[in-house]
Amino acid sequence: MKFKKLVLLGSIVLGLTPLCNAQLILGSSHDFSNSTTRNLTGELCIVCHAPHGTDATQVPLWNHATTQQIFSTYTGYKFQGIATITQPDGASKLCLSCHDGITAMNQFGGKMQGSTGTPALMNGFRVLGTNLTNDHPISFKYDANLASLDGRLKDPTIALSGLGGTIADDLLDIQGKVQCPTCHEVHDPTIYKFGKMSNAGSALCLTCHNK
Ligand code: HEC
Ligand code: HEC
Ligand code: HEC
Ligand code: HEC
Repeated sequence: MKFKKLVLLGSIVLGLTPLCNAQLILGSSHDFSNSTTRNLTGELCIVCHAPHGTDATQVPLWNHATTQQIFSTYTGYKFQGIATITQPDGASKLCLSCHDGITAMNQFGGKMQGSTGTPALMNGFRVLGTNLTNDHPISFKYDANLASLDGRLKDPTIALSGLGGTIADDLLDIQGKVQCPTCHEVHDPTIYKFGKMSNAGSALCLTCHNK
């Protein structure tokens, strides 16, 4: 019995070790360490975070230029009238500091980086742009009250996310808001499109929507 437990414990530890050590972001589309046009430091995190001298208005330790754009926000259907949406804030603002297609991806640490010294903009279908009216709403509070007003949403303070805690614990930010990282994990490409969880059978959507 004791031996079995030890073996089990051993395999759990072994199983977890690669997770802790694997540099998930390495080689993903969020790894700019090999891009001479965008980043000559050879470093990975520096494009987005630095240990010192970062933008004091943005967390966590944000080293990238922050978007200055004004966005058109989601209006929608039932949403209108029951939820208050603001300009993108929190982590969503950070994502849009490249995914707006306007803020230079190689602008970090206070200057334009890379061998050419010219702004490198994102283009193609991964650009959300400044028109967010056709994207899932972000930067609004999702609480028990909104859930009851909507009638087809789970109560985020009670319903489980499947990731260990409630929806509020695992998918909402510290202010209880839906943001880009509600559905994405910026450092981890393991799940399709940097997914926070698999969306097979729309599992992600059904975590919150009672449809
Ligand atoms: C492409 C931009 C980008 C890169 C590169 C990046 N991060 Fe992040 N990181 C973010 C954003 C955006 C957030 C805030 C959103 C969130 O928490 O998911 C964040 C959050 C964090 C956090 C706080 C939340 C958490 O997940 O614990 C830590 C710690 C962190 N990053 C460490 C790192 C380290 C270490 C590296 C390099 C190995 C790195 N990041 C590379 C964008 C990036
Ligand atoms: C420093 C710039 C930068 C920041 C900040 C950034 N991204 Fe990206 N992201 C990129 C680039 C570059 C690509 C790849 C674009 C391409 O290949 O056309 C990408 C790709 C993606 C993709 C598509 C991946 C795929 O497999 O197609 C997703 C999803 C994504 N990012 C989400 C996010 C989210 C969510 C955040 C914030 C938490 C974020 N990104 C922050 C630069 C950034
Ligand atoms: C409600 C969940 C949700 C939110 C919030 C969300 N995304 Fe996504 N996003 C997804 C899913 C799911 C996909 C994959 C869609 C598919 O099947 O191709 C995706 C795909 C993407 C892609 C890849 C586009 C493509 O066509 O390959 C990018 C880039 C992206 N998201 C960025 C963002 C950014 C930036 C934000 C915040 C402004 C954000 N997402 C907020 C769920 C979300
Ligand atoms: C973290 C919880 C959460 C996840 C995950 C989530 N949503 Fe939502 N979604 C919401 C909330 C909260 C609203 C806004 C409240 C409302 O419209 O009543 C919303 C709004 C919407 C709306 C607009 C409704 C309207 O009234 O205009 C649609 C459509 C939608 N989500 C579809 C999706 C799809 C598709 C997915 C999966 C890719 C998804 N959602 C994932 C919480 C979530």
